[in-house]
This record gives sequence, structure tokens and C-alpha cells, in this order.
Amino acid sequence: MAVSTAHVLPLPPGPRNLPIIGETIQWVRDPLHFAQERYERYGAVWRTHLLGRPCAVLLGPEANKFILGSHIHLFSSRTGWGKPITSLIGGGLSLIDGAEHRRHRRMIQPALHGAMLQRYFAVMLTRTAEHTATWIGQQPLKLFEAFKQLSFDIAARLMLGAQSDAEAEQFRRLFHVFTSGLFAPPAWKVPGTPYGKAWRAGQQLRQTLQLIIDRRRVTDVQVQDDILGLLLQARDADNQGFTDEELIDELLVLLWAGHDTVTSLLTWTLYELLCNAHVYRHAVAEQMHVVGAGRLELAHLKRLPLLDCILREAERLHPPAPGGFRGVVTPFEYGGYRIPAGWTVMYSSVFTHHMSTLWHDPPRFDPDRFAPHRDEGRKPFTLIGFGGGPRVCVGFAFAQMQMRIIVSHLLRNFRFELLPGQSFKPVPVPTKMPKDGLLVHVQEQSAA
Ligand code: HEM
Repeated sequence: MAVSTAHVLPLPPGPRNLPIIGETIQWVRDPLHFAQERYERYGAVWRTHLLGRPCAVLLGPEANKFILGSHIHLFSSRTGWGKPITSLIGGGLSLIDGAEHRRHRRMIQPALHGAMLQRYFAVMLTRTAEHTATWIGQQPLKLFEAFKQLSFDIAARLMLGAQSDAEAEQFRRLFHVFTSGLFAPPAWKVPGTPYGKAWRAGQQLRQTLQLIIDRRRVTDVQVQDDILGLLLQARDADNQGFTDEELIDELLVLLWAGHDTVTSLLTWTLYELLCNAHVYRHAVAEQMHVVGAGRLELAHLKRLPLLDCILREAERLHPPAPGGFRGVVTPFEYGGYRIPAGWTVMYSSVFTHHMSTLWHDPPRFDPDRFAPHRDEGRKPFTLIGFGGGPRVCVGFAFAQMQMRIIVSHLLRNFRFELLPGQSFKPVPVPTKMPKDGLLVHVQEQSAA
């Protein structure tokens, strides 16, 4: 897998002369089938045309390591994302590269790790209890939407601090319009189109965030109980803080990356639990044994091995993002092919998570595969629902704590019934969701 600029090797195999849209529709419809079918035809390296650009697809753990770990200097994360995203979000952590990325990452990381997480625990728990109490009796309850409201509420409170209910609701509505335009090309500011509406919402969100930052800078910058408070005080090696513009971009990325993904994974976790009654029963038993009828404490979360396996298995079968893109900055060779600068490369989490050389009976929901007596998923870059390498999800620990709190609360307090006549067909992009949003009926545990 030597890296050089030699031009003698062929381009990867794949269909030629594809028009602008290329194979985007086939990929969006079913990213797993898309990758598996072409793997059969071409092997682990091939080319396609996605989102208006030529793209080399590199499959398997070695390829994931190459793109995400050992050779990140060849790639740009920013140019890997499409124009709508970079033009709407600007330059937050996912959309910057090199020294600028390292600087921002070092400044952001402490707010999402270690001791800070302990401070977020109570807010996550209280918001979960309040939201879920309103679910009872709603028929049908669309779990995807309910999780989305809950995870946005948690993200917004922990990132921006408590706002009034009206302010928070207006912010949520604007954010919804904003994110609906992120994957909606073309990036033309035409009023009434998804991108045009997202652009307008983005301007309003930026104004609101600027007001919040101004308020904080003048009054209570020393508040350290939320992420904005910490980011306002973060300093780089030269003792410089974030500018307001950098802060606003970062908040937009954190809010976006921090709630759609959690919503998706929670929804599929519940789906799998409801389809696998024996796992559900064992998961409830674990909760009763470890937490019991009392209040969930932070320490409990470290003593729930089955819940841990369930979440990993849901991540394996249903990674919220099917994979990721990078722009190729320096031409390179891989697997006997040359990949030119200006192309994109794609790694595929869904493909890796279904490789029969890595996983026993890959389509099966089997949390036990992560138990200590089995050795699946231990090798690097085989379970990559949160990415890997230096750009691994910066919110990993935050998301894990949040999902554990929510699932633990649900298992101990409620019973769920899947409603008949709905479609669970996955809609994979932008974040994977069941077509009808997972319709359930919820009852309190004691009433059930
Ligand atoms: C179930 C929940 C989540 C999943 C599955 C997830 C998944 C991912 C993945 C796959 C990446 C890497 C993308 C790539 O390199 O191609 C990533 C990066 C990122 N995630 Fe998450 N994420 C989750 C939750 C969160 C949360 C809660 C936050 C914020 C609080 C967050 C913030 C970010 C940011 C800022 C990046 C960019 C990191 C960088 O480029 O250095 N994510 N996430």
C-alpha cells in the first residue's frame, strides 16, 4: 500500500463516463447493498461517481485504517463533505483540516470528556424523565421524533445553557429547517427550496447564537457547567481563545452532530430490543439487578455489561452514518491502483460491519458477540460507527453516557408495544431511520 505519485498504475475499476448524478441514487437507496454488490464485481477497491464527484471506494478494516488513521495527511475532511454542508455550517470541527483542526479539537475535547461528563449526568437524567413521562398513552408514539426532541433538548441545554422554553422551542424549529437543507443540493439560495430555507434559518440561528455569546461574555463567562461556558474559556498553545465566528460554527456542528446521530442509534436500539424479546428480558433483568427501583447513579452505568453489548451491536447493524467521505489532496496508490487528487474517497462502515470474515452471521442481532468469551469486534477499525483515528467522534463519551441513561430509564420504567402495519424499511441518509419512524404504544411498567 505504498504512497507515491507514480502515474503508471491504472485507475480503480468501475463504470465510466457517468453523468453528474452518477450512482448517487443507488447509494442513497441502500448503501450496504451498493457496496456489497460492487465488492463482488470489482473487489475491495473500485470507483464510482457520488454527489457530483468521482469517488474511489476503499473497503475493509485495512482501508478504514488507511483513510482514518495512518494516511489522514492525504485527505481533507472539509472537501469530503458536500457544498450545502460547508456553505451552511462554515468551519466547525468536522469541516476543518490540519493545524486548524488540531487546535480546535484540543480546545473542544475537554468539554466533552472526563470530569465534565459527570456534571452533565443530572441534566441528561432529568430531561429524560420529563420527556418520557409525556409519552405514556400517546398512540401512536413515533419514537424517532420523540428521541429527536429529547436529544435536541439535552444537546441544546448542555451546549448553550438553560434558555426559556419559548426561546428553546424557537431555536429547535429553526434548527430543524437548517438541518433539513444540509443534504439538499443544489446549494442555491432560492427562497422556498430546502437549501434556501436552511440558509435563512442559518442566518437567524447565527444571530441568536451571537446574542447568547454576547450575553455570556458580558455577564457570566465564568459559568463552567455547560459546553459554551467551557469553550468561551478554552485557550490554545498561544493563549488565544475562539473568535465569535469560530465559536458559532463549532456550536452549529456540535448541535447537529450531537443529536441526529444519537436519535438514530437510540431508535434502532429500541427496534432491535422490541424484535428480540429474550434480549429485552435479559436487559430488564440486568437493570433490576444493578439499579433496582432506586435512582440511576453515574456509577451504575459502568456495571451494565449487557447494555454495553446491546449498544455496540446496534451500532454495528445500524451505524447512523453509512460511512464517510474525504477529499483527496495528494494523489496516492492503494491496492494496485492510483487515486488522483481532486477525487473523493469513501470508507464504508455498513460494509465493514457486515463482513463475514469479521462477524459470525453478520445480519443477526447478537449482542453476545461482544461478550468477553467471544472475540468479535476487538480488532482496530472493525467497529467504526463512531469513526476512528485522530478524527474519531469527539462526542463519543457524551453520546455513550446519554444513550445509557435513556435506555436504562426506558427499560426500568416502561413497556413498549410495536404497532402493526408500519414499515421498518431503513431510510439511510442523512441519518438512518425506519421509514415510519418506529410507531409504538408506551405503558408504565407498573401498569403493564
Ligand atoms: C450515536 C451517536 C454518534 C455517532 C454514531 C457519531 C458518529 C460520528 C462519526 C462516524 C464521526 C466521524 C466522521 C468521519 O470522520 O468521517 C463523528 C465525528 C464527530 N462527531 Fe460524532 N457521533 C455521535 C454523537 C456525537 C455527539 C453527541 C457529538 C457532540 C456532542 C458529536 C460530535 C462530533 C464531531 C464534532 C465530529 C467531528 C470530529 C473531528 O472531525 O475531529 N458526535 N461522529
